Amino acid sequence: MTTIKFVEASGREIVTTVNRETTLMELAVAHNIEGVLAECGGACVCATCHCYLEENYSESIGEPAPIELMMLDEVLNLKESSRLACQVDITSDLDGLVVTITPIA
Ligand code: FES
Repeated sequence: MTTIKFVEASGREIVTTVNRETTLMELAVAHNIEGVLAECGGACVCATCHCYLEENYSESIGEPAPIELMMLDEVLNLKESSRLACQVDITSDLDGLVVTITPIA
């Protein structure tokens, strides 16, 4: 069981648990997390799943692939911790991760 906490732009916190293979985006959509539109369904062509991830999990998450980096170049409010939630697979190593949803501009 892996616990992931989402923090919406409004500050509302939603704690979720998952015990199957999925992505952060799919988990967010399943819990109706506000601000995760996921318009392309995870094809990495819309960037509407932009979020911020805690730095101390970056080794477990791994580096973004070139296609994700290309899409991140297009987002507003880009930070060092920016990632596309559809490109992050949830593993047990991510237990306790806090995912902050970016404001929709
Ligand atoms: Fe479209 Fe992530 S859902 S880029």
